[in-house]
Amino acid sequence: MQFADLHHHVIYGVDDGPQTFEDAQAMLRRAHENGVTDIAATSHATPGRHRFPMDTYLEHLRKEQAWADEQGLGIRLHTGCEILYTDETVRLLQDNAIPTIDGTRLILVEFLPANDFNHIQNAVRRLGNAGYTVIVAHAERYDGTRKVEDLRALREDLGAYIQINAHTFISPGGFFAKRWLRKVMENGCCDLAATDAHNTSSRSCQMKKCHETIIKEWGQDTANSLCIETPRQLLGI
Ligand SMILES: [Fe+2]
Repeated sequence: MQFADLHHHVIYGVDDGPQTFEDAQAMLRRAHENGVTDIAATSHATPGRHRFPMDTYLEHLRKEQAWADEQGLGIRLHTGCEILYTDETVRLLQDNAIPTIDGTRLILVEFLPANDFNHIQNAVRRLGNAGYTVIVAHAERYDGTRKVEDLRALREDLGAYIQINAHTFISPGGFFAKRWLRKVMENGCCDLAATDAHNTSSRSCQMKKCHETIIKEWGQDTANSLCIETPRQLLGI
């Protein structure tokens, strides 16, 4: 498989992902075993709260890429980050103080769980007006994305892409969470699955299992679209 994972905390020493180069190596191996060939290295960025450690991030990314190449893992690392939306986000993007996905106008954006639809809609609109295309990270987490019609509005009116975590497909949780996921999928409101991997234990890369689960529930074409085609298309590969 040639999975592309657009949400993956693989860079060590910059957020709550791997803390050492060795931890990052184990994550890269795990991604390789899962059939992942492309990873957007989306370390956390919290504009206005903490300065994004751009120099360390880029240095560690290059080091990890060189190691993956030496090992013949066949993995390409792409720049990126998972941006918590704040009032400072647009300004910091414009100042190139936080990395976009592969240096394009595509960004992965997260919100706080209690953020309502108006907040998310305003954020996506404001980012869109500034020229950025938003991937809404783990859309299963927010109060403001509970309704399918609101997800549809983000996609169709504002051009956002909706990402759901691999773990949510594999273990959707209780009755309401399962019902939400089924509705979202039946209405074609999820664009891509991604692992949001942080380590090789409690939050590991489970792309292969996620793809298999989506095949069982919604068929091969949907699984390929969410795990391979759409994320690759977004990376321009
Ligand atoms: Fe994340």
